[in-house]
Amino acid sequence: MRRHRNMRRHICFAMLAGVFATAAAIIPFGGAQAASCEAGKSRADMTEADAQAVYDCLQSVMYENYNKGGKNWIPAEYVKNYRDWKLANTAPAAPGFHGDRYLMTWVNPVGYDAYVEFRDENVEIPAGTIIAKESFDVAENGSAKAGPLFIMQKVEEGRSPETLDWYYMMVSPGGAPVAVDVISACSECHKENFGHQGGLGYPVLDVRVGN
Ligand code: HEC
Repeated sequence: MRRHRNMRRHICFAMLAGVFATAAAIIPFGGAQAASCEAGKSRADMTEADAQAVYDCLQSVMYENYNKGGKNWIPAEYVKNYRDWKLANTAPAAPGFHGDRYLMTWVNPVGYDAYVEFRDENVEIPAGTIIAKESFDVAENGSAKAGPLFIMQKVEEGRSPETLDWYYMMVSPGGAPVAVDVISACSECHKENFGHQGGLGYPVLDVRVGN
């Protein structure tokens, strides 16, 4: 275990974040509930436990908002169901990619076991695997808000060779399907940086399940 140095302090901040959570849930923002919270300290000072506390604060409104409105070409059940899947990370981490946001990676039962092997070669992810990655932004002053939901779906071999047989999708923090050129906006980075591991970036080592 790595988080140990000052457990009492972490717990204290977790409780503080809980208070902010309540505030975020009851203060109307533009007529709708806003998924925003406070870390209670600057981003630079945030520990893993602080990031988790921010996520705990954001998570229910975040999920509700992702599910607002029609999803058009994105299967709505992915967005509805992903919280029933399992997490591949033990705490939110911000690897620098994906807009420097903190990330939470959910994988459906079809692909979970294969994904959490975190193989760096000979990766075999079954078709039908769906991965949903929640994201949130934390500003320098510690104020946090939900970011987009990023989705990857593994399709049958040969269906989309250009993207290593992954379909990419993105839902805005307010629930709208976001039209992006998935080749240049998603696949190129995944392929160029992680082509050797089947196009998968994986959570940073520190927060990988089983690590
Ligand atoms: C600049 C590079 C880059 C771009 C562009 C990018 N990603 Fe990623 N993506 C990553 C990295 C790095 C990870 C691993 C992040 C982590 O959890 O620490 C990742 C992880 C993911 C995951 C979790 C599965 C995995 O790879 O382990 C999903 C889902 C995902 N990205 C979807 C998308 C979508 C959808 C887009 C386009 C809208 C996109 N990504 C654009 C770098 C990128």
